[in-house]
Amino acid sequence: MRVIAHPSSEILSIGAAARIAEALASAPGPRASLGLAGGSTPRAVYERLRANRIEWGAVDVWLSDERWVPADHEESNGRMAVESLVAHIDAELLRPRWSEYLTPADSAAFYEADLRRIMPDGVSDVVLLGMGADGHTASLFPGTEALAETARWFIHNEVPQLDTWRLTATAPMIQRARNVFVLVSGESKAGVLTEVLEGPDGVHPIQLLAHAAGDVVWLVDEAAAAGLTITTVERP
Ligand code: 6PG
Repeated sequence: MRVIAHPSSEILSIGAAARIAEALASAPGPRASLGLAGGSTPRAVYERLRANRIEWGAVDVWLSDERWVPADHEESNGRMAVESLVAHIDAELLRPRWSEYLTPADSAAFYEADLRRIMPDGVSDVVLLGMGADGHTASLFPGTEALAETARWFIHNEVPQLDTWRLTATAPMIQRARNVFVLVSGESKAGVLTEVLEGPDGVHPIQLLAHAAGDVVWLVDEAAAAGLTITTVERP
């Protein structure tokens, strides 16, 4: 695992886009797979990614989590990914289905079947993640049932603290990825980032990454890295 601190969120976005492009280019198969994170931090990274030299026609793009909202809803991670990246590149985004006639459980099951078609071995070349100030990642929130899932790749998750349902990649799906990049920006994340990286294991959901099989690289800005000891952090 590596932790790379960047002087600003803008430099973080540039550096992250370059590392994602590099990881996609080194994918072993004829096609690469890229799981996109939701939330607000990745938007600037996705806008940078448009300019990187990536053979998008050979990349399968999916979502590491989604809110239980219509596809065009302002809270949709898929909508954010389309607006900031996918609408500007030669690739399709594989999105979970939402319908008032579907349950979150059925939608997650359908999506997992879709993922099994593009990644038969369940190993994504790249998975992007964010981190909440409560230590969640994807939609694996503290105290929620999906945290305990050990077989499914993608699952529905009731999040009482948000009074909502989410769809999310599971810990095993994330842990199998060849490359995981965690995008963390801002002073609001500094406290929990220090707990996650330097505190006891098994406290925060995102610490599932301690048991990842592939390369995990934390791409953070100095504001988020403020509490980390010097030995933890690399500076490009
Ligand atoms: C979501 C995300 C979630 C996000 C973190 C950080 O659907 O919200 O997948 O895991 O990455 O909450 O969000 P910010 O980047 O907005 O701080």
